Amino acid sequence: MNIENKNIVITGATSGIGLEFLNDFSGIPGTKIVAVGRKVENLPEADNIFPFRADVSKSEAVDELFKFAIEKMGRIDIFFANAGFAYYEKLRNATWQHIDSIFQTNVISPIYSLSKMIELNQSTEFMHIITCSVVGRMPFLGYSLYTGTKYALDGFNSAMQYEMPPNGHLMLVYPVATYTGFFQRASDSAFMPWPRQTTKDVLKAVKKGIAKNRTRVFPYPLIKPILYLMNTFPFVLKIYLSIQKKNQIKAASQ
Ligand SMILES: NC(=O)c1ccc[n+]([C@@H]2O[C@H](COP(=O)([O-])OP(=O)(O)OC[C@H]3O[C@@H](n4cnc5c(N)ncnc54)[C@H](OP(=O)(O)O)[C@@H]3O)[C@@H](O)[C@H]2O)c1
Repeated sequence: MNIENKNIVITGATSGIGLEFLNDFSGIPGTKIVAVGRKVENLPEADNIFPFRADVSKSEAVDELFKFAIEKMGRIDIFFANAGFAYYEKLRNATWQHIDSIFQTNVISPIYSLSKMIELNQSTEFMHIITCSVVGRMPFLGYSLYTGTKYALDGFNSAMQYEMPPNGHLMLVYPVATYTGFFQRASDSAFMPWPRQTTKDVLKAVKKGIAKNRTRVFPYPLIKPILYLMNTFPFVLKIYLSIQKKNQIKAASQ
């Protein structure tokens, strides 16, 4: 798909990966973008950017978002369901709301938006992009709920590829640790694991993926062989996790 002249929605556009995409996509000729987040005051101003304040974990807010986007742009060609967050913690206290909140935001909202995109675009070509994570393919210490949400998206994608209408493309993005405020928001003591990349690396890989209508994009070049090794030889994963655990303990004691 060509990004030029497309009407786009980006959730999680107020910081990090989403903001990087917003800044780049809004400079592409003919694009119009509805930029979504709760802190819309962080959004850049431009004639082709339409800010929309929403908590995307709520179905009514997503319904309102679609209404707003159609009102402003007439149609939606690309929906980038990028909003998401993590808890860095040990799951100890039974709090329904805590678990519900992360699954509503990271899993239900992107899937619900996809179903709305399918409903909306009966015959016109569209693309739905979801920011998954490399932790949708490997577990990570201290992030069990977050890992659960991203594995859910990966499983959904595997089945949904066979159910997509011929005019629709579904693409999941699997970044490794990316320099954004994400870890800080997960917890004051959250540790940023290895390997790492920038939001520009994610952008570059996703733009290639959009051009080629890819179903999965892995922005970090070596991650596919690394995942292959970890999933084929579980001891490699164990060694990696034990190194990360030492690093986490070291970071926590500093
Ligand atoms: N950074 C990483 O290492 C990394 C790695 C792999 C995958 N990812 C994924 O990449 C995506 C973007 O993360 P990031 O790294 O760019 O982190 P970030 O800088 O913390 O950005 C997260 C964005 O999501 C939005 N958001 C979170 N909850 C929301 C809600 N309920 N309603 C509306 N917006 C919400 C935030 O907007 P407001 O605060 O304005 O609402 C913010 O714009 C997430 O899905 C994350 O899981 C990140």
